[in-house]
Amino acid sequence: MITFALPSAERGVVQGEGGTTVTEQQSPGPWESAVDPRLNTGVPQVARIYDYWLGGKDNFTADRFAGQEAVAAFPGIRLSAQANRAFLRRAVRYLAGAEGIRQFVDIGTGLPSTDNTHEVAQAVAPGTRVVYVDNDPLVLAHARALLTSKPEGVTAYLDADLQDTDAILKQAARTLDFTRPVAIMLLAILHYVPDLAEARRIVATLTGAMPAGSFLVISHAGTDLLPEDVAAFEQSLNVHLPADRHHVARPRDVVTGLFDGVDLVEPGLVRVSDWRPDSPAEAATPTILWGGVARKN
Ligand SMILES: C[S@@+](CC[C@H](N)C(=O)[O-])C[C@H]1O[C@@H](n2cnc3c(N)ncnc32)[C@H](O)[C@@H]1O
Repeated sequence: MITFALPSAERGVVQGEGGTTVTEQQSPGPWESAVDPRLNTGVPQVARIYDYWLGGKDNFTADRFAGQEAVAAFPGIRLSAQANRAFLRRAVRYLAGAEGIRQFVDIGTGLPSTDNTHEVAQAVAPGTRVVYVDNDPLVLAHARALLTSKPEGVTAYLDADLQDTDAILKQAARTLDFTRPVAIMLLAILHYVPDLAEARRIVATLTGAMPAGSFLVISHAGTDLLPEDVAAFEQSLNVHLPADRHHVARPRDVVTGLFDGVDLVEPGLVRVSDWRPDSPAEAATPTILWGGVARKN
């Protein structure tokens, strides 16, 4: 089932095609009337482990266990996750500010945290429209926190798998105008697509559907950033993940290849901590993630 939360201007529940369900931003959604059968608190989930590393409360014993094992393998993972959130904040602020972007698709949203994409963008431009996409049932359950749009803008939530690119594009088009520039955010998600060809297809399909003037933002674990730590971290985490969802870090040149067809803005693909840091402390934060922002010309 794909569930989609729509702008307040389009109130009500709408049956979409292919079993999709569309709900608006304020009224109760289907997650409030029944427990999602996919919600298995005994099996660690990436969104909840990441929440644990960030010091959040939306995680369970199994997630904390897996998260602690990963911390033991690579103690810097918490700081690396924080560096990634700081990169998100700076990239969105740059896009909404300097580049005037008013539409975002944030895929692999994660559990609500500080400085969610719509909060950062709407602080710059209140009319910004944001579509969030994730496939985790707990993220869906917390979608209400992501739907606190300023009245001038819109936030919507789509419960979908990253690999369902056609469904994502079709459903997001209910909220966004794909004849106008859009920023596609793929932060700390593509390294959960073990098949590189599939990761490349996903990025190419999404960017291919956007008009010139759109942007692509990616952060991705690098085998060539703290290599021994990354290897130990990955080995620890993958014990808990199904093989087709394994964490697969990639070298910088491969991550650069995900930006084929779009042009990286300065400073190019760098450690997320080095992408236009606000302070020396931000720049000094250890991270295992490459990050970049690119324009489709
Ligand atoms: C590490 S978190 C990153 C969260 C956020 N993007 C950030 O960078 O702070 C990865 C998120 O991607 C989601 N995710 C992983 N694989 C996915 C897939 N195939 N389809 C949709 N979401 C996915 C997880 O549920 C999780 O919320």
